[in-house]
This record gives sequence, structure tokens and C-alpha cells, in this order.
Amino acid sequence: MRVFWNIAVWPVVYAPCYYFLRLAFMYGALFMDQVVKEAFALAERSAEAIRAQCGDRHDVLVVLGSGWADAVGLLEEISSTPVQSINVADIPGFTRPSAIGHGGALKSITIGSTRVLLLTGRTHLYEGHGVHAVVHGVRVAHALGCKIALLTNGAGCLQKEWTIGEPVVIKDHINMTGHSPLTGDNPPSPHAGRFVDLTDAYNSSLRSLVRNVSPEINEAVYFGFHGPHFETPAEIRAIATLGADMVGMSTVLETIAARHLGMRVLALSLATNLAAGINPQPLSGEDVLQVGKESAQRVGALLRDVLKQIDTTKATEFS
Ligand code: HPA
Repeated sequence: MRVFWNIAVWPVVYAPCYYFLRLAFMYGALFMDQVVKEAFALAERSAEAIRAQCGDRHDVLVVLGSGWADAVGLLEEISSTPVQSINVADIPGFTRPSAIGHGGALKSITIGSTRVLLLTGRTHLYEGHGVHAVVHGVRVAHALGCKIALLTNGAGCLQKEWTIGEPVVIKDHINMTGHSPLTGDNPPSPHAGRFVDLTDAYNSSLRSLVRNVSPEINEAVYFGFHGPHFETPAEIRAIATLGADMVGMSTVLETIAARHLGMRVLALSLATNLAAGINPQPLSGEDVLQVGKESAQRVGALLRDVLKQIDTTKATEFS
């Protein structure tokens, strides 16, 4: 009986399963290749729609994270051209951010002779739209000519002696989201391949430009988690031993996407709270937003002054 099963029955059962699985894997691989190509093509289509309303050339992308939204007013005030504003929901390819405190507008502003593309909010990985939606704005900005990505966020702080409500400059990151925007096939030509060097991910010249504007500012290693839950005290103790100074749920994937496209990255975090366990109080999204509101003028002014400095030093021109 066993011989009958081995010779006659198992091949009949296994063979279709084997070929079904092989086909499924092949289809999966082809599907991944399509996903990568489609993500870059979508960025081109979004750029085309923006170009029609805001003109061709942009130099610097600014992404406003939690606590940075009020910078919009200060930047609009100093624009030397009328500010163009588009609802991202009206641009093909964009996902309207769902996180509280994140706006859904794309603005085109001029500071001196520098054309700034401003996103008043971002899409986070935890919103569930996938990694390409998270980095879409960066790819669109690159397609519109941006050479610098200035990314901002609100983040938990692991350094007890740093002041909550103060901005810090990110000097490096640890990506613990478990994702990369470069997963899948190589990006389509003319883009570089997927093995991107991240040695100077946060550009040292741009970081020293910030120190010229704000000499006392601290420099931090940013630890990026998937979220949306806050960390446990044990996780915070663990990442402290790994060298983290700040912890958040954004920025790292956008930085990887920007570096892949050859853009220089400057990232600023607003310390909205002491990280879990260091903070004696439980963490809440509302408290984070409240600190953002209280710091709005200070961080808005920093952003404005940094952009002015980028303009006067013609930082968009050096590589
Ligand atoms: N952890 C993760 N993300 C955050 C935090 C935090 O403590 N604060 C603001 N964003």
C-alpha cells in the first residue's frame, strides 16, 4: 500500500502544487518589477501636473513634519513671488496625509532666487499605503529639479539634558522600519541602481550651514521605527545602547529615496517629548502636537533662516 502511495498518489498531489507555487513566485517577481517602474512613472506624471501650475524649475524640497506646520505662514510672508498652492489630493499619485497636524497642500514659494517646493505634511509608512507612497514627494521633487531635500519631523528625545521644544539636526540614522524604498527590481533608467551609499546621508555642508544659523543646535542620530505605536521603555533602552538620540516614525525612507536620486539631505527634528520610559508621563499624540504648537514660531524662524542661508550661499549649486 505504501509503495502504491509513493509511486502513484504523491506525484499527482505534489506536482500541481509545485507548479502552482513556481508560477506564483514568478508572477510575484514580475509584479515587483512593475511596482518599481510604476512608482517612478507616477512621480513623472505628478511632476508634469505640478509643472503646469507652478512652473518648471524648483531647487529645494521642504517637507513639514509634526510640529513644523506653522512654518508655512513665515515662509509665505517672505516669498518674492505669489505663492502657488495645490491640494495634493488634486495631483495624480499623491496620498493625502491622514496624520493629525499634517497638511495636504503643496506650495511653490520663492526665497531670494531659490524656488522652494513645500509639502505641508507627509505620508507615513504606518498609514498603510506602502513605501512608494511614503517617498513619492521626494521623487516628484527630484523630477521637478530639486537638488536638496529638507526634511523635518517631530521626534522623541533620548537625551535627558536636551531641551524639549528645541530643534536638532540629524547627523545619521538607523532604519528599523524593516523597509527600503529601493526594494524590488533596479529603478528604471536613467536612475542609479539600488545599492545606494549612505555614508554621508545627511550632508555635512548643509549641517554646518545650519550651525552657522544656530550655533548651539545639537546633532542627533535618528532612529526610525515603523509605528504608529510609541515605543516601549525596553525598546528605548535598547536603542540608546545602539547610539540613538532621537526616535520617530518618518524621514529615514525619504532620505534613502533622496540619496538614491543624488539629492543632498538636510533633516531637522523637533524634540516634542522625552522618549518612553525616560519620560515619567505616558506618551500621547496630543501632547506631541501641543509642544509643536508652542515651538511653532521658533522652528518656523529656524527653517526660514536656513532657507535664506541656502539661497545666499547658493547651496543648491554645489554638490
Ligand atoms: N516616538 C516615536 N515617534 C515620535 C515620538 C516618540 O517618542 N515623539 C514624536 N514622534
